[in-house]
Amino acid sequence: MSERTQVAIVGAGPAGLLLGQLLDRQGVEAVVLEARSRDYVEARIRAGVLEQGTTEVLREAGVGERMDREGLVHGGIYLRFDGRSHHIPMSELTGGRAVTIYGQTEVVKDLVAARLQCGAPLRFECSDVEVDGLRQDEPVVRYTHERSEHELRCDVIAGCDGFHGVCRTALGADVLNVWEREYPFAWLGILADVAPSTDELIYAQHERGFALHSMRSPLLSRLYVQVDPEDEVERWSDDRIWEELHVRLASDGWELTEGPVLEKSITPMRSFVAEPMRHRSLFLAGDAAHIVPPTGAKGLNLAVADVTVLAEALVEHFGSGSQTGLDEYSDRCLVRVWRAQHFSWWMTTMLHTNPEADAYGRRLQRSQLEYVAGSRAAATSMAENYVGLPLIKPAAKALSDG
Ligand code: FAD
Ligand code: DHB
Repeated sequence: MSERTQVAIVGAGPAGLLLGQLLDRQGVEAVVLEARSRDYVEARIRAGVLEQGTTEVLREAGVGERMDREGLVHGGIYLRFDGRSHHIPMSELTGGRAVTIYGQTEVVKDLVAARLQCGAPLRFECSDVEVDGLRQDEPVVRYTHERSEHELRCDVIAGCDGFHGVCRTALGADVLNVWEREYPFAWLGILADVAPSTDELIYAQHERGFALHSMRSPLLSRLYVQVDPEDEVERWSDDRIWEELHVRLASDGWELTEGPVLEKSITPMRSFVAEPMRHRSLFLAGDAAHIVPPTGAKGLNLAVADVTVLAEALVEHFGSGSQTGLDEYSDRCLVRVWRAQHFSWWMTTMLHTNPEADAYGRRLQRSQLEYVAGSRAAATSMAENYVGLPLIKPAAKALSDG
């Protein structure tokens, strides 16, 4: 079966779904193809912190209503080390900006519902997806759906298929430059059926390893502990996880309340960038192009920033025939991508216990923590990165503009 559209979007994660929604609202046609089932995509627990710019984009895309009702707006975080908590008042340090705690699962559910409601094409459980025709400028996506083979011809392919997708690998090593770093640790995350023991997120550095107390709602807690990347989830009983959380998060006069564990999984940590993010008519967005370790809570926010730039460029292109936005897409995104790479690496090295660090490295790490906790200038730098720098402007321009 053969069909034609303007934009073929591969992947229905946050990047692909939001791109589809932004294009649909501006009258650009797209078909979204997803390898997994709707249930799987809507249940996959991942990120939870939305930058203010991300919430603004979701609102403008017409999918902000439940987020505004159920999301938790946080104006600060706690840094905890040596058994003491240090509050970083992010809103105060950034002229009133804040983050919203709202699970990626919920963002995805809202986007799927919006797309299905307007009747725009979204196909789950597509297999054997492959992209072709780039060299001839006749892009096509071939896939199998409901046991029949399909061919989707298009003007542009948006590769929103995550780190393990097919779009980036279709480009090959002669087209892409790749930068990568692996870390000697991973995160074991749990979702717990218990009210959070804190009003704002706690990022804790402890000699036994990093721990994070986050949340999903006034009744659901999300917590993480640093583990070895080779570790297996079966080796972590619920009791062992809570015991470790008590030790690593401990602080005078503060108590952690335990509850039933609803889900647990281990996430490896990696930094990765593939450049350029565009080759001919294939545009990479989100995790398909770059990965950050989760400590800075940037992965989902970067995916949203990429597709905001891409949607704008595509609307301009299909409206006026202009190539300018498309030509600038990769460079515009990469400024923000590299800022988030640095911030995520910095948060990760400041907060984790590196089994490979020497004594000198550990003292440097301690000095950095004390600096952020004790200096308004250092805390402001952390805060403006955490709540999110302006979506598109390069950082240097934002500074010169005041
Ligand atoms: P994805 O969400 O990966 O979506 C890609 C989609 O493409 C998926 O639905 C996938 O099934 C589909 N797909 C893949 N291959 C194909 C194919 N061949 N054909 C069609 N479809 C395909 N970020 C944070 O900020 N905080 C966190 O705590 C956090 N935790 C994470 C935990 C895990 C296990 C992972 C993997 C990531 C985590 N992230 C976190 C990062 C964040 O979730 C991602 O940055 C975000 O999901 C990126 O969105 P995306 O749409 O680019 O990619
Ligand atoms: C969550 C994840 C993060 O990576 C982070 O830095 C903060 C919170 C979360 O899942 O809630």
